[in-house]
Amino acid sequence: MNRLEAAVDRVLISEAKIAARVKKLGAQITKDYADKNPIIVGMLRGAVLFYGDLLKHVKIPCTLDFMCLSSYCGTCSTGEVRFLLDLRGSIAGRHVIIVEDIVDTGLTLDYVLKNLAHRGAASVEICTLLDKPSNRKVEVPVKYTGFKIKNEFVIGYGLDCDELYRNLPYIGVYRAG
Ligand code: IMP
Repeated sequence: MNRLEAAVDRVLISEAKIAARVKKLGAQITKDYADKNPIIVGMLRGAVLFYGDLLKHVKIPCTLDFMCLSSYCGTCSTGEVRFLLDLRGSIAGRHVIIVEDIVDTGLTLDYVLKNLAHRGAASVEICTLLDKPSNRKVEVPVKYTGFKIKNEFVIGYGLDCDELYRNLPYIGVYRAG
């Protein structure tokens, strides 16, 4: 076992399971947005692997853009959301899909949705790889979900602990200490 994998208590979602689910999500988005040329927004940095893989299965013309917010410090949410990078382009009149790694308390996406509400998008929907519904503090409308998981801290496939372990190819439960 290498130092990267030593941080994993157990594999929660394998590479194969992720790949199969991401393919289905891409096919669903392709169908739902067939004639809409959506803007697909990747939430940096946690969604990068999911975003890249998902886009390969979205077979319609679309625009790519990115946002970066932060509310985490180690394994616990600070509860305070900070805007680190905003969208480059206008979303007025456009259909927007926000691609996120995980919805936990919901505070980050609630903040994003409120912020985007004044920018005149035709629609804004959320696509998340993971959802931890039991930890929700504020409800957010999630249209596409990869996997619902229990309230455990997970790493890999883009998800980090103190900016490490994002490069694990699967989702694992973090081994504390
Ligand atoms: P929320 O604002 O509490 O919904 O948190 C959203 C953000 O917290 C996600 O985009 C992740 O970056 C981070 N996060 C929440 N749970 C986990 C986890 O289990 N592992 C790694 N990051 C997490």
